[in-house]
Amino acid sequence: MRPVRVILNAKSPLINTPAWLALLDHIKQVKNIHMVDLFDQDPERFSKYSLKFKDILLDYSKNRITDETMKLLFGLARQAKVEEWRDKMFAGEKINNTEGRAVLHTALRNRSEKPIFVDGKNVMPEIETELEKMRIFSEKVRSGQWKGCTGLPIDNIVNIGIGGSDLGPNMVCRALSPYANGTKLRVHFVSNVDNSHIQQILKYLNPETTMFVVASKTFTTQETLTNANTAKQWFLDEVGHVSQDDVAKHFVAVSTNEEEVSAFGIDIENMFRFWDWVGGRYSLWSAVGLSSILYIGMDNFIEMLEGAHEMDEHFQNTPLEENLPVILAMLGIWYGNFFDAESSAILPYDHNLRMLPAYLEQADMESNGKSVDRKGRQTTYSTGKIIWGAEGINGQHAFYQLLHQGTRLIPTDFIASIQSHSCINDHCNILASNFLAQTEALMRGRTMEETREQLEEAEIELDKIEEHLPHMIFEGNQPSNSIVIKKLTPRTLGGLIAMYEHKIFVQGIIWNLNSYDQWGVELGKNLTKNILEEIDTGTNIYKHDSSTQGLLDWFRKNRKDL
Ligand code: F6P
Repeated sequence: MRPVRVILNAKSPLINTPAWLALLDHIKQVKNIHMVDLFDQDPERFSKYSLKFKDILLDYSKNRITDETMKLLFGLARQAKVEEWRDKMFAGEKINNTEGRAVLHTALRNRSEKPIFVDGKNVMPEIETELEKMRIFSEKVRSGQWKGCTGLPIDNIVNIGIGGSDLGPNMVCRALSPYANGTKLRVHFVSNVDNSHIQQILKYLNPETTMFVVASKTFTTQETLTNANTAKQWFLDEVGHVSQDDVAKHFVAVSTNEEEVSAFGIDIENMFRFWDWVGGRYSLWSAVGLSSILYIGMDNFIEMLEGAHEMDEHFQNTPLEENLPVILAMLGIWYGNFFDAESSAILPYDHNLRMLPAYLEQADMESNGKSVDRKGRQTTYSTGKIIWGAEGINGQHAFYQLLHQGTRLIPTDFIASIQSHSCINDHCNILASNFLAQTEALMRGRTMEETREQLEEAEIELDKIEEHLPHMIFEGNQPSNSIVIKKLTPRTLGGLIAMYEHKIFVQGIIWNLNSYDQWGVELGKNLTKNILEEIDTGTNIYKHDSSTQGLLDWFRKNRKDL
């Protein structure tokens, strides 16, 4: 008998609920409607389907929706009790049920006077203490008051971490680089255990003026600890005879795990704490943000927290119908579950947001890439979509062909900032016009008549026109959201990220998932340990399939040291 891999009898009931069935019925009526017709029928479509919150404008009018669609989607959100779950999350209830933890990254950016309790204890004083500790530390380093082991100030920061302990602060540093003007510090991120990564960075650095921030929630992550050990060895080798005090001047830790930090040899005086109720992929607001604080300064970091807090308040206090994260989430559900769209692209038209797609890949897919619901029942519907993307303008010259004329429906988020930090000559206008033209093209497409007319105007021969026509018609009707921010500031960045975090939350609630565990990453980690043991000892200990064994043998044959 085949071993059990799924608990077949238990199925999540979502697809048989009234709100879901109503949407299934509705899609039959609207599936073939073209957005061009929707725009023709309603000149007010933009004002009807766009919303502004602070400096963020969301235009969702280029979606395959009608008033009825939105009504039914909000009905589904109400049926799933999105508001009740939201309130539970903000109140510190342990909604991460498989790990028995609260989900309180929102507390890290709580800029109100409101206390927030976990297990009956107000966590706000601890958060404030940690923020203050980071302020003092970052000011010392940024001002040059903090000296390295030979009395020189620090000029380079190397963040060693992976996943949430890398992507968040890394993305923030890129996004807010214009705010790093006040410092000469340069910041680098090492995540890959491939030694090339750290070596390519270390070779340009002076150990006497370099500080390593080892960031790991668990402080047990193999890649991070390996890189941290390599960094320490490099430091000791390069600097020569140093004392523990000297190491302390160059290595600090960010973690929830005091014991492991200490076991690694970092003085816990130099440890910046956060808590188990902060998920790794939601941790950039915590001490995990330390590298970004060193780079942009504490005031800018606080400004980012404030922007996120404003979005938290919007999410908590705004009716679903005008709630940015809820609207984005429900549109995602609409395409993923009713149009069977498999992926969704994030396309920033702001160079400084170039890491946002990678950041959101983790935030979204690690949260909602699940196939059982909160109660352990199998989902009979698709859950987390494949999130991908890249800078939009580069994508236009690479993968947009598939968006425009491919066979798949790929909803997109186009993100732009109006006031660039760097706007000389034609750059800004060209960028803005590309941003605006692409969503128009995706929505409108180009009909046969329009295409024929253009070819005739270009005086193409008649038989060539007929030959070219099918290749040059665009179906259009490809949905997009336009998210336009006034300027990419710490505040708007905070709001933007929080908006996406809450979108992910809402989708998890609709699908009845626990978005805050990540058991799916464990199996690979365990098998890695087994194979590493076999590589290290040069023996075969575990039984593998013929592919894995064949590959292991091939590695051994081609690397004599294995
Ligand atoms: O393996 C996945 C993961 O646990 C992510 O959730 C997390 O962001 C990353 O690894 C790094 O974990 P840590 O911060 O504990 O090193």
